Amino acid sequence: RLVSMTEMLNKALEGKYAVGQFNINNLEWTQAVLEAAEAEKSPVILGVSEGAAKYMGGHLVVASMVNALLETMDITVPVALHLDHGTSFDSCKSAIDAGYSSVMIDMSHYSIDENIENTKKVVEYAHSKGASVEAEVGTVGGTEDGITGGVQYADAQECLRMVKEGNIDALAAALGSVHGPYEGEPKLGFDEMKEISELTGAPLVLHGGSGIPEHQIQQAIEYGHTKINVNTECQQVWTAAVRDKLATDSAVYDPRKVIGPGKEAIVKLVRERMTVFGSSNKA
Ligand code: G3H
Ligand code: ZN
Repeated sequence: RLVSMTEMLNKALEGKYAVGQFNINNLEWTQAVLEAAEAEKSPVILGVSEGAAKYMGGHLVVASMVNALLETMDITVPVALHLDHGTSFDSCKSAIDAGYSSVMIDMSHYSIDENIENTKKVVEYAHSKGASVEAEVGTVGGTEDGITGGVQYADAQECLRMVKEGNIDALAAALGSVHGPYEGEPKLGFDEMKEISELTGAPLVLHGGSGIPEHQIQQAIEYGHTKINVNTECQQVWTAAVRDKLATDSAVYDPRKVIGPGKEAIVKLVRERMTVFGSSNKA
């Protein structure tokens, strides 16, 4: 019952809202995001980085867990299971073969020709299996899963080539956003964003979605963003809630009670984000 991102993102483009990608790390995390989506009647994308997949025991464990939860939790909203920042064709293929409905192939650190070439291969395979593909042009800055990089703005003509030649379903055009916490106010390239959106007409993806003020989120949606990735904010509220539990309850030792507040904090955050992104009641 997992679906690809294609239909949800095209609907979002038309309806001028964005679907959140929330990265998951374990069972409770996944339950929290699904619970929030169902409560908000919102489509949702579960993001899994290669590192998170490895941590959870591999793609088969993740896909099996998610599929089981869709059934046992009676989830009725559209859910995509998406490989976040896939680094190779093989990595994307193994996710799809395990049951993921969507992948990102991130060849943004290579030349545009190599990036398009590799993306094409992934698209061919993914589409033959009904899965969607996101590609990246330019580079998102900051640190995620220990991978640190500088910001490099996406070039509009390269974006157009990627969309046309790559036949992708969603485009992450890096325009100043960074992974992890921002230092000061984020500075997104809105002029470039408008140009790329108008030129390509593609559903755009905003990486580094944590910590971006609401007016900038709305502007990004106005300029074609249909998917906003949130990882750091979930990690921050989870950790704050668990830290608070441990600090205020020195007698606690049941792990379910230790990390329970973390799950509740994620449900609350994800519901808020869905309201801000405008995806609530769009399922
Ligand atoms: O791919 C995942 C997101 O781009 C994470 O962004 O660190 O701002 O939550 P974030
Ligand atoms: Zn990202």
